[in-house]
Amino acid sequence: MADRKYRFDTIIVHSGIQPENWLGSTLPPIFQTASHRVATAEGLSDLFAGKEKGFIYQRLHNPTNQALENRIAQLEGGVGAIVTSSGMAAIHNSLTAIAKNGDEVISGNSLFMSTYLLFANVFRRFGIDVKFVESTDIDEFERSITPRTKAIFVESVGNPKMDVPDIERLAAIAHKNDVPLVVDNTMPTPYLLNPFNLGADIVVHSTTKYLSGHGDALGGVIVDSGNFPWPNEKFPDFEVSKERADKKAYLDKVWREIHINVGATQSPFHSYLTMLGIDTLAVRMERHVVNTDKIVRFMTEHRKVKWVNHPSLKSSPSYGVAKKQFSKGCCALFTFGLADQRECFDFIRNLKLVYHLANLGDCKTLAIHPYSSQYVSFDPATRMRLGITPGMIRVSVGIEDAEDIIEDFDQALNKL
Ligand SMILES: Cc1ncc(COP(=O)(O)O)c(C=O)c1O
Repeated sequence: MADRKYRFDTIIVHSGIQPENWLGSTLPPIFQTASHRVATAEGLSDLFAGKEKGFIYQRLHNPTNQALENRIAQLEGGVGAIVTSSGMAAIHNSLTAIAKNGDEVISGNSLFMSTYLLFANVFRRFGIDVKFVESTDIDEFERSITPRTKAIFVESVGNPKMDVPDIERLAAIAHKNDVPLVVDNTMPTPYLLNPFNLGADIVVHSTTKYLSGHGDALGGVIVDSGNFPWPNEKFPDFEVSKERADKKAYLDKVWREIHINVGATQSPFHSYLTMLGIDTLAVRMERHVVNTDKIVRFMTEHRKVKWVNHPSLKSSPSYGVAKKQFSKGCCALFTFGLADQRECFDFIRNLKLVYHLANLGDCKTLAIHPYSSQYVSFDPATRMRLGITPGMIRVSVGIEDAEDIIEDFDQALNKL
C-alpha cells in the first residue's frame, strides 16, 4: 500500500491487512488468547516499561484488534486508534482521559440515549459537569464555554433528531478556547464524512453500526487526528513524556490512564467481524444512501405520514449545513410522524419485511418507536428536547431492494 496513493474505496478494502505477517492470510487471524508468552523476564520487563513493542495481555493490546485500529485510523485520516468493547466505552474513555472532577464538557443535546445518560448521570457522579446546548446553535456553544471547559462533543448527525452541527465552525470555537472537538461519527462513517478534514480533533464510533454493518459485533473506536497541541494551558497535567511526545500523545493518555484500567476491551472476534464488515463499507454505504433517498421521497408523499425528517430534505433545519458538509449523501437513518403512539404501534405490527429491533446500521431495514422503547424512562420534557415524540418512528434503511422496503411500508401504512 505504501508505494503509491490509492483511492479511498481501495484503501477501505486493503487498509490494515498484513499478509506478510499473517502467513499469507489476507484476513486477520483471530488471536484468541488472553495473554502472550514472553521468553525471558527481561523481555517482559521491557514490554511493560514500553522499551519494546509487543503483546502482553488482551486488555492492553491484541494483534487482531490492532489490525482494526490501523484500518479505522487510516479511513478517518488519523494517526492512530484504540478499539473498545462498545461505542459507549469509546465515548466514556475518550472524554475521561481529558476531563476530570471539577471540569466541564459542552455537548450538543442531540444525542443517542445512552450517551445522554452517561453525560447527565454517570459523568456528573464523578464531578464532570456536562452542559447540554442546542447542537446546531454555534453561538450557544461559544457562550457556554468557561475556563473549566475541557472539550466540546457532538454527533455528526444527531440520533434520532437528525440534525447536523457545523463541524468547521465548532472546531474553530473549540480551538479558539484551547479545547479539542470530539465528534461521534457513527452515523455517516468515514465513507460519507471525515470530521478531521473539518477540524475535529478526536473521532469516536460505535463500530456496532455501519462499520461492522451486519448487526453482529458490538464495538467502538477512538481515533486521534494527532493535530491537537497537547499539552497546553488548559491541560497542565497532560503529561507527555519524552518518548511519547509525538502525535499520539492523546491516545497514549487514553490507553495508559483509562483504557487498560477500565478494561472495556474489544473482543478479537468482534474485531475480525468488523474488519470483514469494513471490506464492503463503500458499496453498502452507497446503497444505504440511494435507498434512503428513494424511501424518504416515498414517505413524504404518503397520505398517512404527517412529516418526514432527514437532513437531505429542504424542510429540515439542517438542510443547508448538510449540503455543505456531505458530498456523497448524509446518512441512512430518518424519522417520520404518524398520528400518535397507537398508530406507531399498529404500523410496527403491520410490518412484514422490515425488522422491529433496537439497533441501526444493519444491512437489513429496521424500525423502532423510540418514545416507548429506548427513551421510555426519560421525563416528557427531556424527550421533547431530544425530539422524541409519541408519534415518531425511526427507520434505519438497509440495503435490500428499495422497492420491497417501500411496498412493506406502504402496506403497513395503508392498514392504519
Ligand atoms: C450515534 C451513536 N453513538 C454511540 C452509540 C453507542 O454504541 P454501542 O451500542 O456500540 O455502545 C450508538 C448506539 O446506538 C449510537 O447510535
